[in-house]
Amino acid sequence: MILNIRHILWLYYLSEAAAATASHALSIFRPITGSLSGKVNLPCYFSTIPTSAPLIGPNGSITYGRDLLRIKWTKIERNTESVVLVAQNGVIKIGKSYRNRVSVPSHPEDVGDASLTMVKLRASDAGTYRCEVLYGIEDTQDTVSLDVRGVVFHYRAKTSRYTLDYQKAVRACQDIGATIATYEQLKAAYEDGFDQCDAGWIADQTVRYPITKPRKGCFGNLMTKPGIRSYGTRKPTETYDVYCYVDKLDGEVYYAPVTRKMTFEEASEECKKRNAVLATPGQLHAAWRQGLDRCDYGWLSDGSVRHPVAVSRIQCGGGLLGVRTMYRYRNQTGFPEPTMKLGAYCFKGKCHCICRCLLYVQ
Ligand SMILES: *[C@@H]1O[C@H](CO)[C@@H](O)[C@H](O)[C@H]1NC(C)=O
Ligand SMILES: *[C@@H]1O[C@H](CO)[C@@H](O)[C@H](O)[C@H]1NC(C)=O
Repeated sequence: MILNIRHILWLYYLSEAAAATASHALSIFRPITGSLSGKVNLPCYFSTIPTSAPLIGPNGSITYGRDLLRIKWTKIERNTESVVLVAQNGVIKIGKSYRNRVSVPSHPEDVGDASLTMVKLRASDAGTYRCEVLYGIEDTQDTVSLDVRGVVFHYRAKTSRYTLDYQKAVRACQDIGATIATYEQLKAAYEDGFDQCDAGWIADQTVRYPITKPRKGCFGNLMTKPGIRSYGTRKPTETYDVYCYVDKLDGEVYYAPVTRKMTFEEASEECKKRNAVLATPGQLHAAWRQGLDRCDYGWLSDGSVRHPVAVSRIQCGGGLLGVRTMYRYRNQTGFPEPTMKLGAYCFKGKCHCICRCLLYVQ
């Protein structure tokens, strides 16, 4: 038994080492992963041994002067570095898009810890960060990469617009491999540019919608200002659309590689033939977030038809990014007739390395 466990651990470490090398050559840390609107800690440590020359007082006492301590966190973007936070002599400066979202320990010199805590994570926070600590004459640098997963999306029921009461809204998200979005998740998505002019339930039983480009018909309670529109807390029997959230994808979503087009039934059979199932809208959104890009509409498990655009192209979705939905009617309601001939998006669950290893050693 002990042998088995060692074997598993060893394989586990091997895959960890591979991940670290692949992610960023400079970094000794594994990439840090956080979820939309969540919190992460980007590690950065330095030596606290005093490095300045001792000061000898008039009475012969020896003291160490207060070393200059300067902590600088930047985000490396292509060829530029933008300032996230600079802390020096108790004065902290924070970059515009990080205001109220980042901090370092209050007495870093006591613990040798200049790690950056970041909250209310946005998808756009993903990337490589550098910390630079100047302490006395010591200069320590490190880089760490951050990955942010999770996506918020609008969901409209099969039948029509605004047909979900609160309970049905919660269930609708669960049925498509997601959860009803929290206000914090919707806010983080909005900060990244999410714009949707449809009122939807969120977890706290309020009804809201995010507008980055205010326009006629979408002003809501904020008039011409960008922001998340709110109808406030509503009776659970009132009906709207819903905003769902999906975190990570435990498997793979792919467009079924067949040239013939299929009805909903045929699409479902096609995925089964491949030991897979039709993907849920939640899975398709999570896959899109990981870069799945395809210009062909395909059937999904709920009978809806969508396709993911991760690379901006005029001829595909007019250059806009996101998961596009095909509706039955021009007014953007109704799922297509199940007899319509289209492609299929299949989902295949992942067997983690560890579970494969377990089978292997037994
Ligand atoms: C020596 O002087 C320092 C200030 O220069 C003072 O803090 C310390 O208490 C003094 N020590 C003694 C033993 O008088
Ligand atoms: C959308 O259009 C269809 C067909 O024209 C119509 O039956 C339906 O009532 C419309 N729905 C809404 C919400 O306007």
